[in-house]
Amino acid sequence: MKNKADLKKITCLGAGYVGGPTMAVMADRCNSIEITIVDLNQSKVDLWNSEDLSNLPVFEPGLASIIKKVRGKNLFFSSDIQKAISEADIIFISVNTPTKTSGYGAGFASDLKWVESSARTIANFATGHTIVVEKSTVPVKTAEVIKTILNYNQNYDAKKSFSILSNPEFLAEGTAINDLENPDRVLIGGNDSDAIESLSLIYEHWVSKEKIIKTNLWSSELSKLAANAFLAQRISSINAIGAICESTGANVREVKLAIGSDKRIGERFLNAGPGFGGSCFQKDLLNMVYLSKYYGLNEVANYWEQVLILNNWQKSRISKLVVDKLFGTLNGKKIAILGFAFKANTNDTRESSAIKITKELLTEGAEIVIHDPKVTKDQIKKDLEKNEGKDPKQKESNSFWWFSKDYEEIFKNSDAIIILTEWEEYKTLNWKFYTNLMRKPSWIFDSRSIVNPKEMKNLGIKLWRIGDGTLD
Ligand code: NAD
Ligand code: UGA
Repeated sequence: MKNKADLKKITCLGAGYVGGPTMAVMADRCNSIEITIVDLNQSKVDLWNSEDLSNLPVFEPGLASIIKKVRGKNLFFSSDIQKAISEADIIFISVNTPTKTSGYGAGFASDLKWVESSARTIANFATGHTIVVEKSTVPVKTAEVIKTILNYNQNYDAKKSFSILSNPEFLAEGTAINDLENPDRVLIGGNDSDAIESLSLIYEHWVSKEKIIKTNLWSSELSKLAANAFLAQRISSINAIGAICESTGANVREVKLAIGSDKRIGERFLNAGPGFGGSCFQKDLLNMVYLSKYYGLNEVANYWEQVLILNNWQKSRISKLVVDKLFGTLNGKKIAILGFAFKANTNDTRESSAIKITKELLTEGAEIVIHDPKVTKDQIKKDLEKNEGKDPKQKESNSFWWFSKDYEEIFKNSDAIIILTEWEEYKTLNWKFYTNLMRKPSWIFDSRSIVNPKEMKNLGIKLWRIGDGTLD
């Protein structure tokens, strides 16, 4: 077995939103370590290798400049999985773990087929002693599955041995680089103290020792699910309070200030919005619900499921109130959606509230024009699946959508603007100029508290703002 400080080669399976940024920062902070990120998806690997850094498959502020610094020096993107595994001292599994869509546990349990196939590939091609690190978010006890697959192989090849660690990732998209460079904590779970120490030494290149928490495997796996469940629950809580505000004349931003000033509650992650999106909160909550039911903890399962029920209600509540305010029908009306990403500073649309809200509005017969600074038209097409049409004269059905980056054509003759993502550029729009192009009465539905209510009132705009019972 190698000395802990001699671990020089890292391979990461999965060049996605986690694998790419995480390994880029690791390569930047550990110049003596060579890191290869591999992926089954050749076109994704090609994009990571593209000369033009604006083509990287993941948009994250600060990512392109790090890639420029380390790519080709100690960070490599490849589809030669066999070679990268056989040379690695440490392998991170950073593959997707979406909710199962069919079979036993469908709609709740995580689909571990990519994790399982990663373990099988590692078992086949690894050489010598390899530390295998679960970076993906997984159900509690998944390390047992990986261990069984690896150990079965190890039994037949005395030259191979494995240590399994859990090292969940807590980065949030849009702030991934800062989160990785200055993490609140790094969590390492395992029962092989040498392997834990080896991984810890890598993080200690840039993270202070006190921030590295070491636990057993199951605490580490569960802590990741628990962290996301707590964060998601905060959003459903503030959205529930926001709805009460709208009915009572309270204002959710004032309530946020009042409750967030209590240090025990804290001010962060209390922004009312159109419901949480992103690839993980829903998936990890569903996973928690499944796990709780599996262990017969039905009350616990119901508790966490309610967070999701509230979140889905919040999305539909917004589409319904748009229809209500626009006299109960969207037929013949032009609605503009500003923001399709699930949050600002990312091109990711997975589980974005914009998808559900747009689909619901399309069923009401609307013409919808969509804008997003980073999400592509092709991505929106995949998310909405149908109803695309560019020229209103060519429309075949009553409802259709199109994509534009031209604010003038977006606002022109629109009946309503719905702000769904808090992009900085929306905050600084020339609202006076653009709202003047709208059809009257003109509505703005602000689900992200971006626009200034006084300014909108002066412009003669009808405004609905999330969690605001003070607007008339
Ligand atoms: P992703 O879909 O962006 O990337 C996963 C990649 O893994 C894909 O490119 C896929 O082609 C590749 N892959 C699948 N099987 C493979 C295999 N056997 N070998 C090589 N490549 C393989 O997913 P992501 O957003 O990066 O998430 C990865 C994991 O990290 C998930 O478990 C997720 O829950 C967790 N996570 C995500 C975030 C986030 O912000 N996106 C944050 C923390 C944790
Ligand atoms: C979240 C967690 O914050 C990360 O710690 C975790 O690693 C990650 O999930 C994961 O496991 O994938 P992410 O989904 O990228 O990160 O982004 P968040 O900032 O958490 O936002 C999630 C959703 O909640 C977004 O739709 C956002 O707009 C919404 N949100 C967030 C609110 O509506 N209000 C808030 O106050 C905060």
